[in-house]
Parts: sequence; C-alpha cells; structure tokens
Amino acid sequence: MQTTNEAFVESKCEYEKEEEFTSLYRWQHWIRALSIVVLIITGFYIAEPFVASIPSAQPDNFMQALFRFWHVVFGFILLSVVVFKSYLFIFGKKHEIERKSIKDIVNPKVWIKQIGYYLLITKHPKLNGVYNPLQFMAYTGFYLMMVALILTGLILYVHVYHDGFSNLIYGTMRAFEAMMGGLANVRTIHHLTMWGVILFILGHVYMAVYNAIFGKEGAMDAIFSGLKWHKKH
Ligand code: HEM
Repeated sequence: MQTTNEAFVESKCEYEKEEEFTSLYRWQHWIRALSIVVLIITGFYIAEPFVASIPSAQPDNFMQALFRFWHVVFGFILLSVVVFKSYLFIFGKKHEIERKSIKDIVNPKVWIKQIGYYLLITKHPKLNGVYNPLQFMAYTGFYLMMVALILTGLILYVHVYHDGFSNLIYGTMRAFEAMMGGLANVRTIHHLTMWGVILFILGHVYMAVYNAIFGKEGAMDAIFSGLKWHKKH
C-alpha cells in the first residue's frame, strides 16, 4: 500500500499546475455570483412581497422601496461586472485562453468527444481553450440572459428613479420599451429571464461538482485558487 508521502511524490510527478483563472477573473466571478443571489431574492420580493413591514402608525415603512433600492444597487454592480468581464474576454492579455475556446467550438471532433465524456463512454477531449464546447454555448446563453436582464432592468429603472443617469438614458430606454411591446411585456421578460438564470445556476453547479468528482484536474478548485492541475505528457 502506498504511503501518503509516496502518493504525493507520485502525484507531483504526474501533474503540473497551471494558472487557469486570473485573480481579476475570480473576483468578478464571485461578485457576480453574490449579485445574482441578491437580485433573485430581492426580485422575488418585488414580484411577490414575502415579508411584511413592522406595523406603524406612520406610513413610513417602505419595504418595497427598500428591497427595490438594494435590487437596483446590485443591478448596477452586476451591470459593471458584466461589462468588465466582457472587456477581459475580448482584450485581456491573460485571457487569451478563453478566446482560444472558439477554436474548439468549431471543431466537430471536440463536440463528439465532449458529449461522449458526459455519457461516460469517451475520455475528455484535449482542449485548446479553457471551456469545452457545451460549456461555451451555455455561457453564451447565460450572457444573452444577462444582457436581457440588464436591458429590461434599466427600462424598469427609468420608471422608478428619474434623476441623473436615469434621466440620461430615459429616451433610449423608452424606445426599447416600445420595441418590446410596452412595460407589462418588459416586466414579464425580466421575470421569465430570471427563471432562465435559476435553471442555468442549477446546471452550472451540477457540472462543476461533476467535474470535481470525475475530472482529476481540480477544475472546481480553480475558481477559488486560480490553479488547475494538468497531467504531464
Ligand atoms: C440576475 C439579475 C436580475 C434578476 C434575477 C432580477 C429579477 C427581478 C424580478 C423577479 C423583478 C420583479 C418583476 C416582477 O414584477 O414580476 C425585478 C424587478 C426589477 N428589476 Fe430586476 N433582476 C435582475 C437584474 C436587474 C438589473 C441589472 C436591474 C437594473 C439595473 C434591475 C432592475 C429592476 C427594477 C427597477 C425592477 C422593478 C422594480 C419595481 O417594479 O418597483 N434588475 N427584477
């Protein structure tokens, strides 16, 4: 039987570490995750208030306004992070590995091997980039949902706040509102897209745990430490 030390030496020989995610990448991931959680909780409240305010003789316990305030604060944090992350993806020097994933999505062999891997019949394909094709498509869908939530969120925002930035984007947002067929539709799109994000999160967490168990490269750890372990060839 191997001692722990031997196992360590063996693993040291077989695997080498590589920086997978930069610290900026990891920070934006967790700030975004936190914002989405807060937005889902406060969003559910705005749609269907589930906490009653403390009874008061004065009508000054504006719970809806309080939840909406935090919703909008985290909405703008999310907006900033999505813009920042898009910048990193397109221009980031250390993010070239993300852009290389585009090579994999146009390669049918990688698709077939990847699907086979998830069906437990083939080995994981060797990737050029950091995302496998299914993952890349899922993330593209996620970004489209983010854009939909931000756009519809900003339309709703110009109806509840009226000064400063809201005033600046008012005309443009009203034009988008008309394109979507009115405010009621905007609200429905905003709400339904939230459900899309909830489904994405369930799949995302499931796949992360799946890879942590079946993959031996520490894919899950990488979003905390930034490091992934690749087999030496
Ligand atoms: C993951 C992102 C988001 C989720 C899950 C989310 C969820 C929701 C939900 C469920 C509602 C209630 C809709 C209804 O009445 O049925 C809502 C309303 C609203 N959201 Fe979001 N939202 C997100 C992002 C944003 C963003 C980025 C903004 C703006 C910057 C925003 C601004 C608003 C505003 C202003 C309202 C309406 C408040 C009111 O009616 O008083 N949301 N959101």
